Amino acid sequence: MIELAFSILASDFAHLADEVAAAERGGGTIVHVDVMDGHFVPNITFGPPMVKSLRAVTKLPLDCHLMIERPDDFISEFAAAGADMVSVHQEVCRHLHRTLQLIADHKMLPGVVINPATPVETLIEVLPMVHHVLVMSVNPGFGGQQFLPFTLNKIAYLAELREELGLNFRIEVDGGVAHDTVAQVVEAGADMLVAGSAVFCPGKTEQNARELLALARAAAPDKLAQKG
Ligand code: DX5
Ligand code: ZN
Repeated sequence: MIELAFSILASDFAHLADEVAAAERGGGTIVHVDVMDGHFVPNITFGPPMVKSLRAVTKLPLDCHLMIERPDDFISEFAAAGADMVSVHQEVCRHLHRTLQLIADHKMLPGVVINPATPVETLIEVLPMVHHVLVMSVNPGFGGQQFLPFTLNKIAYLAELREELGLNFRIEVDGGVAHDTVAQVVEAGADMLVAGSAVFCPGKTEQNARELLALARAAAPDKLAQKG
């Protein structure tokens, strides 16, 4: 199933509830929450209080992408705030298996993220325990960057591995996913599509989301295209 995970990083925070509602009307089914600490990435955003506010205004699953060092220290806070999925970067986790287990122990769905320059092979051992693998298609830290085409090979490789190993983790892609890039991303094998700047735009959010999803579904192989 192809799903749109809209990134609130590109939304108008002063009208967050309306922004989320507009993206949901357009067909978005996951709220993507970009947490940045100013250390792992050169930008700062928000943390568990934002998740708590979102939890109060939407029933959609909250997908927290932690671009932070020492994620273990914050897992219980994200759980208490109402997060449904938490993904951590391979590059910051010395004990990746332990961190993913900690997320699962808190009854959230664990995901692992790799930067554009990090090889898929670094994940082989943890693939059986993750709900999703998030492939960064830009260097993390900012919205509105250009999609890096070489990451398409990583998506395709992950889809192949999933088949070969008989696993069922989902493949999420994040960064520069827009109307002109989404078809390639889906063709490569992604099924959770993160998009921020291609979705949020005053007065056009609902339409943007709807059009992006339609393009994605049109590019999908049959088994991915169905809704629900
Ligand atoms: C980048 C974030 C992304 C970002 C995507 O570090 O992880 O989720 O918000 O933004 P767009 O869709 O504008 O590239
Ligand atoms: Zn993200």
